[in-house]
Amino acid sequence: MSVAPHAGSGKITVPDIISRKSRSLDGSFTTKHKITCLTAYDYPTARLLDEAGVDILLVGDSLGMVVLGYDSTLPVTLEETLDHTRAVRRGTKRALLVADMPYGSFHVSTEESIRNAVRLVKEGGAEAVKIEGGERRLELIARLVEAEIPVMGHVGLTPQSVNALGGFRVQGKTPDAAQQLERDARAVEAAGAFSIVLESVPRELGASITQKLHIPTIGIGAGPDCDGQVLVFHDFAGLTLGHTPKFARKYANLAVEISRAAAEYCDDVRSGRFPSDAESYHSPAELRERFLAPERS
Ligand code: KIV
Repeated sequence: MSVAPHAGSGKITVPDIISRKSRSLDGSFTTKHKITCLTAYDYPTARLLDEAGVDILLVGDSLGMVVLGYDSTLPVTLEETLDHTRAVRRGTKRALLVADMPYGSFHVSTEESIRNAVRLVKEGGAEAVKIEGGERRLELIARLVEAEIPVMGHVGLTPQSVNALGGFRVQGKTPDAAQQLERDARAVEAAGAFSIVLESVPRELGASITQKLHIPTIGIGAGPDCDGQVLVFHDFAGLTLGHTPKFARKYANLAVEISRAAAEYCDDVRSGRFPSDAESYHSPAELRERFLAPERS
């Protein structure tokens, strides 16, 4: 088991994230410094992103689709989330580490949900958990906060509701839907969440909710006016093998680079170019002379 490093010397904490938002003279809220968040699922990626200065590393349940090859996030288990959270914990010093509560881990009873969230903190080393859903999660979020577990909310397109929503679609496009989304975001805030993800909503709605809430909004497909942004690592790095949504800007094309490297490796092995003599170990001279001398006829 590993635990979160101590605050100080640049370590990002929950209060740091909250403090990125401030009230302006007209009573609306603005961001001081935009919050950066990326998903991470393993040790090397966590180290690289942490050292590059990303504020929040999220072990998202997108894990199921981009790493484990499931069709949706629904099959992801608490044990899988725990394994990956521990790996990310080991690679993270500065960033705030948030673990997503997977589908089924907070749907049965409040007691079981708290027990599961406690495991993500105690055994996984998460500093906060993320919960999908709005008004429906009010009581649960409040109980988690009471149990000293900071909560990041998540409204808009919530992939765990894919069956109920009928697919991965932009949310909040009608007046009723936009009003419900605002109620959901306000409920998450009222319950005590320290931040909230807004996923796949029109830019204007993202901006309006961001202006009304005291807590920072972290957008993914919610336009540029949110207090921060999050991307799924595999979309960001060009490692997603299927369709990616239009908001998923590719900052690298690692799939192309890995395919090229793998083809080159196969060529080198087959042609004898790999490994070279310099990439081989050599026996001491005495051993070579006594045992390994080429046979003479
Ligand atoms: O699971 C995930 O990666 C997420 C982000 C898209 C916010 O929930």
